[in-house]
Amino acid sequence: MRIGDIFELNIEKLVYQGYGLARLGDEKFCVFVENVLPDETVKAQIVSINKKYANAKLIEVVKPSKYRIKPFCPIYNACGSCQIQICDYDYLIDLKTQILQEIFPDIKMAPVIKSPKLLEYRHKTQYPARQTKNSKRIMLGYFKNKSHELTNIKFCPVQPDIINKIAQFIRDYFPEDCYDEKTNNGLLKHILTRITTKGDILLTLVLNSDCVDEKLYDFSKKITLEFPSIKSIFANFNKSKTNKILGDKSHKIFGDDCIVEFLEDKKYKIGATSFFQVNPLAAKEIFNIIKNNIKSDSTILDAYGGVGAIGIWLKDKAKHITYIEENLEASKLAKDNYKLNKIENYEIFQGDAKKHFLNFKKQNKIFDYIILDPPRSGCDREGLSEISDLAENIIYVSCNPVTLKRDYEILKEKRFKVQFFQGVDLFPYTYHIESVMILKKE
Ligand SMILES: C[S@@+](CC[C@H](N)C(=O)[O-])C[C@H]1O[C@@H](n2cnc3c(N)ncnc32)[C@H](O)[C@@H]1O
Repeated sequence: MRIGDIFELNIEKLVYQGYGLARLGDEKFCVFVENVLPDETVKAQIVSINKKYANAKLIEVVKPSKYRIKPFCPIYNACGSCQIQICDYDYLIDLKTQILQEIFPDIKMAPVIKSPKLLEYRHKTQYPARQTKNSKRIMLGYFKNKSHELTNIKFCPVQPDIINKIAQFIRDYFPEDCYDEKTNNGLLKHILTRITTKGDILLTLVLNSDCVDEKLYDFSKKITLEFPSIKSIFANFNKSKTNKILGDKSHKIFGDDCIVEFLEDKKYKIGATSFFQVNPLAAKEIFNIIKNNIKSDSTILDAYGGVGAIGIWLKDKAKHITYIEENLEASKLAKDNYKLNKIENYEIFQGDAKKHFLNFKKQNKIFDYIILDPPRSGCDREGLSEISDLAENIIYVSCNPVTLKRDYEILKEKRFKVQFFQGVDLFPYTYHIESVMILKKE
């Protein structure tokens, strides 16, 4: 097999990250193909090969799956942010369930819960900003898969349409140049938007600078006159040449310090650099699974707490909540959010979760439940070993089943057993799968 060879392949199944798996020849060598579905026959061209597998590019669908649909996004092929818009949604839910079941063969699970919304579900957008070479037109959108080539996204159906309009206004009226990776010149690196379910918007302009000039204040007046639902504009300063989107310092240019998300009877202040669930309506499913699986009057450790979302959701069942979060802004907002939601028995710990787990262990602290909701990379091995002595019950919320599997193996060694497992679709038509794992020590 060589790069450039074209083969006719039968797609056996979809694997995590959205690739179709085919096996080639007598050795059944694995070939992964994008944009295909199980049971399809396709022609695909080999683009890379290593010892264990090859990657191939789809050339032609010879026999399509009965579940193949026309992508509803006009720029699906150019964008790549939703990887699986070629698949009927109900069938994709079946496939996501199968993928989870394959990763966790020893766990009994129900089908993945669907997202309540399939369009306009994304409440957070991060667009890199670039300019065309000659005409200097501003482009805002996502980088194509595994590249730094930007797709200018004028309309994205999975985010509220007002965000498309705001992006267009920025393209038309932003008064400065955008960032150029080659020269490290140009001011605007990224735009970040966060919109609440009621429609209030926080806009963050990530700048290749450490100050804000008058032109940006004037621009902020202009954009907020056009879009009164923009309640807050921040500049975030990031002069680094790395892939990190946000810098450490931010400065408010306009409006409120934060926006407030209302979910049922809970209120959450969200800031420019703090995490909040991208699909809040689907996230509620996860929050309620946790709530339904804990006993009243419990002591809870909410680790990787963000602005306090999960801990606060559990307030009616909590005797006391201990919260840990690394991000400074998020932990300050969490303090506000605990007060806003009239919670009195809580303690806030800012900093690395592992460090606090170690301290709690030294102090012989015990909790009824530990909630873990780490980033994609999962928990730290050492930290996980520490928490196994801090509680009999662990509820692990994960946005990456691969790191969840790794961490689950560690918890199994510590005698934890799964009581309940549920996948939830927070990112429809993408390969992402969120899951909640509820474990108890034997
Ligand atoms: C997936 S978010 C979950 C936030 C929150 N549970 C929620 O539902 O909104 C993960 C959070 O972990 C925080 N984080 C990342 N690494 C951390 C660490 N080593 N220690 C503590 N918090 C960390 C991030 O800042 C982020 O707020």
